[in-house]
Amino acid sequence: MTITQSEGTAAVANSVLPARIPTVPGTEWWRSAVIYQVYPRSFADASGDGIGDLQGITSRLPHLAQLGIDAVWLSPFFTSPQRDGGYDVADYCDVDPLFGTLDDFAAFEDAAHELGLRVIVDLVPNHSSSDHVWFQEALAAAEGSPGRARYLFRDGKGPEGNIPPNNWDSVFGGPAWTRTTNPDGSAGQWYLHLFDSSQPDFDWQNPWVREQFRAVLRFWLDRGVDGFRVDVAHGMIKAEGLPDYTAPADSGSMGGGQVDPLGLEPEVQVTEAAPTPPYWAQDGVHEIYRDWRELLDEYSGDRVLVAEAWVDPMAKLAQWVRPDEMHQAFNFAYLGTTWTGPRMRRVIDESLEVFSSVGAPSTWVLSNHDVVRHASRLALTAENPQGHGIGPASPGQPLPELGLRRARAASALMLALPGSAYLYQGEELGLPEVINLPDESRLDPTWFRTNGERYGRDGCRVPLPWEANATAFGFSPTGESWLPQPADWAPFARDSQIGVAGSTLELYRLALALRAEYQLGFGSIGWLPGYGEEVVALQNGPVTVIANTGTVPVELPVGELLLCSEELVGGILSPDATVWLLAAH
Ligand code: NOJ
Repeated sequence: MTITQSEGTAAVANSVLPARIPTVPGTEWWRSAVIYQVYPRSFADASGDGIGDLQGITSRLPHLAQLGIDAVWLSPFFTSPQRDGGYDVADYCDVDPLFGTLDDFAAFEDAAHELGLRVIVDLVPNHSSSDHVWFQEALAAAEGSPGRARYLFRDGKGPEGNIPPNNWDSVFGGPAWTRTTNPDGSAGQWYLHLFDSSQPDFDWQNPWVREQFRAVLRFWLDRGVDGFRVDVAHGMIKAEGLPDYTAPADSGSMGGGQVDPLGLEPEVQVTEAAPTPPYWAQDGVHEIYRDWRELLDEYSGDRVLVAEAWVDPMAKLAQWVRPDEMHQAFNFAYLGTTWTGPRMRRVIDESLEVFSSVGAPSTWVLSNHDVVRHASRLALTAENPQGHGIGPASPGQPLPELGLRRARAASALMLALPGSAYLYQGEELGLPEVINLPDESRLDPTWFRTNGERYGRDGCRVPLPWEANATAFGFSPTGESWLPQPADWAPFARDSQIGVAGSTLELYRLALALRAEYQLGFGSIGWLPGYGEEVVALQNGPVTVIANTGTVPVELPVGELLLCSEELVGGILSPDATVWLLAAH
């Protein structure tokens, strides 16, 4: 074979890439966009209090532009007591002082747009914080009054009313109901919270709730945001009568069925549906999204709605992205697929088919702030359901080298696929899950609600390392960091990797540059014959992509090498590696 870049070296992309907005002039930018998730607490801290903030994010934006992404999605930065990392909102139209001010947000947004980056913010409509004035007023209102009807208050069962209204569990562990106390000190009604007790669920059958959220959407749209990632987009409507439900033993923690995360079952069908719980994926959610879509369409500039919907099977998820509903939905089936050839091909085929059947792009995602980072997850040897996290006592500890190798290969495969891809901050540095966090530093409500039985998600939320030799690796100017960073993170720091051939950061930069150059996001794929079961070999436009998920080295076709996730020796692709070529046909 001919390898025109220096053989055996993962190449370095050229300097800073020009701003690219929109991806193709006049088109719907989101169809092919690479969207980078910023978790504000952990991205960059300008104030020095050890918690990331908006000014910190703004100061690092040029680095994101240099990475070659199209948009930034910010996890919540709104007023919040931070009982669930800001997914417990106490004021939807203001910035929490921890993160800055509305002016800081405006400055961030202007800087992002200036650099050609779109801005997506998080919308958390299933529940508010219990500190929200809407909930405080509901608590103060009389039972059965309109004030109470904003949330799901119910009488308890039994003569004393001391049995919860139904048997639902919270996603974070423990019951999904908490009993209130009346002003006279007597025990009162119960309220539903699918997540923490500090996150009461709204009653979305109530027109008042719908009206409030239309105003929230307009507030941010008027401030120029390019779209919303909609939290728990599968949960807002509950089945009539709130019937009891017992989940099957293997269902995932964010709802719906979990695609076998480790490939322990040889023949898991991605299309197999778990039973639909009465609190997830109810048909009534769709009229809400149709309403929001109409509202967004009043605004110019291609604003988007992205569903965080854990819905199984994928064909059902596609209903969230019908032409008059949301624009995209996260592809969690892809995230949950093991690094095995047949499964990867199957989930890719199914994703492309199912989403295109409703005219939507498929999305691809490997990591986010709720799951074990894929540089660790892909080398776990025991099951770890979504949201459970890993800690020192977890079974199946990952092998770091294998995990990173697989993560690089998996990311290189993902970024070659048509549609839109989501990156989670730090994956471009190859960051692993942090397993040995001191217990006293953990903040995830999952940890507390399960009495430490589930470690939860803190391990994927450790603040980013920017500079190898700076205090807190450049995360904060004071050395403060709300979760401790591992002492051995210097090699992961951005400045250890930028411009370094073969680094994970350069692999991502090159993949993103080539993805844009060859318009892979707008492409279509065909499988290439002649490879073993464990080899994912595809053609997207002129680019041949070969990912080796197996244990046997693979001989590559003759062609010009564009990218390789591992060094090639003698034109051979080793296990757990991916290559992009311009093959000579
Ligand atoms: C999904 C979010 O991604 C997660 O972080 C949060 O805890 C739950 N929704 C509840 O809002």
